[in-house]
Amino acid sequence: MADLNELRQRAEKIREEIRKNAEQLTSSKAAYEARKNFLDKKGVIGQLMQDMKSVPADQKAEYGKTVNELKAWASERFEEIDKKMRQRELELRYASEKIDITMPPVKMVPGHLHPVTQVREELIDIFASMGFEVYEGTEIETDYYNFTALNTPQDHPARDMQDTFYLSPEFLLRTQTSAGQIHVMESKKPPIKILSPGKVFRSDDDATHSPMFSQMEGLVVDKKITLSDLKGMLDVFVQKIFGEGTTTRLRPSYFPFTEPSVEVDCSCFSCGGKGCSLCKGTGWIEVLGAGIVNRKVLENCGIDPDEYSGLAFGMGMERIAMLKYGINNIKLLFESDLQVLEQIGDQE
Ligand code: DAH
Repeated sequence: MADLNELRQRAEKIREEIRKNAEQLTSSKAAYEARKNFLDKKGVIGQLMQDMKSVPADQKAEYGKTVNELKAWASERFEEIDKKMRQRELELRYASEKIDITMPPVKMVPGHLHPVTQVREELIDIFASMGFEVYEGTEIETDYYNFTALNTPQDHPARDMQDTFYLSPEFLLRTQTSAGQIHVMESKKPPIKILSPGKVFRSDDDATHSPMFSQMEGLVVDKKITLSDLKGMLDVFVQKIFGEGTTTRLRPSYFPFTEPSVEVDCSCFSCGGKGCSLCKGTGWIEVLGAGIVNRKVLENCGIDPDEYSGLAFGMGMERIAMLKYGINNIKLLFESDLQVLEQIGDQE
């Protein structure tokens, strides 16, 4: 190639080729490749530059100018093409990512807390509002804290009330959260107002009993604490947990660590006291055990029973959950069957 005319024709052809090419390009990547084909050193236009060597000296300037003009034009064209391609790609992407806001949403099924956890939290809320603090004891206890200090020595017949899992002659799985009462009274001076939730263990297994279940213990020690304080607190408690209008009645009972001891019933929140299947026709439902802390227990903890008195209560949280949510078999609370658990509790 040495002729200027020939060069001009060739340049025109290249322009035509680029124009045509541009119409067929569909992506910025293809545009990049095409640009390389024309503008790289070894590309079509790059080659024309190389050919300048064989151009006679008097035509070199004109030749170079023509090739440079072609190069500038091609660069500009490819820039435009690249811009166009990128814009097109962006539009395609936007179109593919478009959200149809009229589509029905994917159904979300939120989880909820286990019914016993819900009861535990509700109880803590209720008693915290009366000034109780939470104390969590340990599940492994010594015989002393679980029994002896609670006025239940080795040969005491009340030990037969609970079938105990012993780990050794000294250690056992606590049978009652009442063990926590002793730890608290040993480490804290009155006034004491604690609530102690936790797991307890007994060798017991039927529709209403499980070898592991949860209790909530309450203990108040101060000057002049009486049964009427207990009744007042429990009235507030049953109204909050079972609904307004629920009342309590105390029946004489026996626990070694309380004197007097009571069994606390609440009026049936299902029938309002008329008698139904839940209250077995009596109008009353047993909810917990309670009493005035036995003087001996206070003494065991170094608290002067002539100066201070206390009230205590303990309830099974599964029992409260079963009553509240109408469950007749305690096993349903432990089997972790989601189809069952999803139906129990306060859904939020
Ligand atoms: N610890 C008793 C039990 O497991 C429940 C109980 C009764 C706790 C009377 C108390 C109480 O604090 O005063 O059966």
